Amino acid sequence: AQAASAAEPAPARVALSAARLVAPDQDKVIEHPLVLIEGERVTEVRSGGAAPDGYTRIDLGNATLLPGLIDCHVHLTGDPTLSSGNYYKDTLQRSAIDDAVTAHLFAQRTLEAGFTTVRNLGAGEYIDVALRNAIDRGTLAGPRILAATLPLGATGGHADDTTGFSPTIQFHGQTGVADGVDAVRVRVREDVKRGADVIKFMASAGVLSAEESVGAPQYSQAEMDAIVDEAHRWGKRVAAHAHGAEAIRMAIKAGVDSVEHASLIDDEGLKLAKQHGTYLVFDIYNDDYILAEYARLGFPASMTEKEKKVGRLQRESFRRAVKTGEKLAFGTDAGVYPHGWNGKQFAKMVEWGMTPMQAIQAATTNAADLLGWADKVGAVAPGRYADLIAVDGDPLADIAVLEHVRFVMKGGAVVKGAAAR
Ligand code: ARG
Repeated sequence: AQAASAAEPAPARVALSAARLVAPDQDKVIEHPLVLIEGERVTEVRSGGAAPDGYTRIDLGNATLLPGLIDCHVHLTGDPTLSSGNYYKDTLQRSAIDDAVTAHLFAQRTLEAGFTTVRNLGAGEYIDVALRNAIDRGTLAGPRILAATLPLGATGGHADDTTGFSPTIQFHGQTGVADGVDAVRVRVREDVKRGADVIKFMASAGVLSAEESVGAPQYSQAEMDAIVDEAHRWGKRVAAHAHGAEAIRMAIKAGVDSVEHASLIDDEGLKLAKQHGTYLVFDIYNDDYILAEYARLGFPASMTEKEKKVGRLQRESFRRAVKTGEKLAFGTDAGVYPHGWNGKQFAKMVEWGMTPMQAIQAATTNAADLLGWADKVGAVAPGRYADLIAVDGDPLADIAVLEHVRFVMKGGAVVKGAAAR
C-alpha cells in the first residue's frame, strides 16, 4: 500500500503569469493573467494576484501568453531540407523507412515553434500512427497528433505516387489508391483499423504530383459520398484535398468536414460551405516557398508551372472567404515547406484580410472545433490541457511575433523556454 501511494505523487501545481493573455475563445485580452495548472490541465484563469500556496510560480514577465497553436494540415514525414536536389533520385532511392527515422525531428521542431497540436493529413506506412503513439507515451517530444494515415485517391491521381514512371517499374508498400464505391469503403475501414483519427482523400488533382490538371475532380460524386458516409459511420471526420471549383463543391456536397487548399473556390462553393458548415483550410504561405525553392530542389518544371496556376488565386479566394464569413481553420501543409516555419502563415492571413485576432482564432478555437477537440485544446480554460505558448510583444499589434515563440508548455510540462524548470 505504501509503495502504491508513493508511486502516485500529487499532480504538480503551477501558477503561470505574464503581462497579458490573448483569449481567442472570449475574443479578448486578459491583463496580468495568472493561469493555475494542476497536472496536465488548467484549473483556473485569474487576472492578477499572487500564486496560491503550494503552487510553483513561473513568471514570464512582459511576455504575451496564448493557447498552444494548432496546425490542421501538416506532413511530418517529409521536409524540403531532406531533398537531394533531384526529385527522381529521391523518389527512387528514399523509402518510407527513411521518412520514419526523421519524422521525430520535425515533430519536435513543430512543437518548439508553438504548435502543440497538429493534424497530419497523410503519411506512408502508418508512420504517423507510430509517431503519435510514441509522443503520447512520452517517448518522443512532439505535438498532439491526429493521424490520417494513407490518403485515399484515384488511380493516376494526386495520391498515386507511381504516376509518370515506366509501367514496368513496380512500387511496393501500402497505398491509399482505391477506385469505386466498394473499394473506397474498404480503404476507409483499413485506415481506421490501422489507427487513423481522421480520413483524408484527394477530391481533385494537385500541384506536387504528376497529373496534368491542377484542380479537376478525381473521384466521382458517388465515390466521395461513400468515403464520407463510411468514415462518419466509424466516427472519423473527413478532410478533402481540393483545388478546383467543381471538386470543392462535390466534396462539400458529400459532407466533408474540411476542404484543404480550396484554391479556386467559386461563389457557389462559398455558399455551399456556409450552408454545410464546412471548414476551409487555406495553406496560403506555401506558394512563396514553392516558387522560390522548388526549382533548386530539383522538382519537375511541370509542378512549379501548376503552382503558378493556383498560388495567387488561392490568396484571392482566401480574402473572399474571410469577407463572406466562412469557417476558416489554420493549416499550412508544412512538409511542403520546412517544419517549424508554420507560424509564418499568420502574417499572410493578415495581409490577405484577417484581423490578427481572427488569424489566432483560426489556429486555436476554430482549429480545435474542426478537430473535434474543442473540450481539450484551443483555449486556456478550466478543464483544457495546459498547452500554452508565450511570445515577446503583442501579436494583436504585430502578428509576426508568432514566428518567434519563446516559451512552450504542453500538458503542463515546459518543453521550451527560459523558465523551463
Ligand atoms: N500538397 C499541395 C499540392 O500538391 C500543395 C499545394 C501548395 N500550393 C498552394 N498554393 N497552396 O497540391
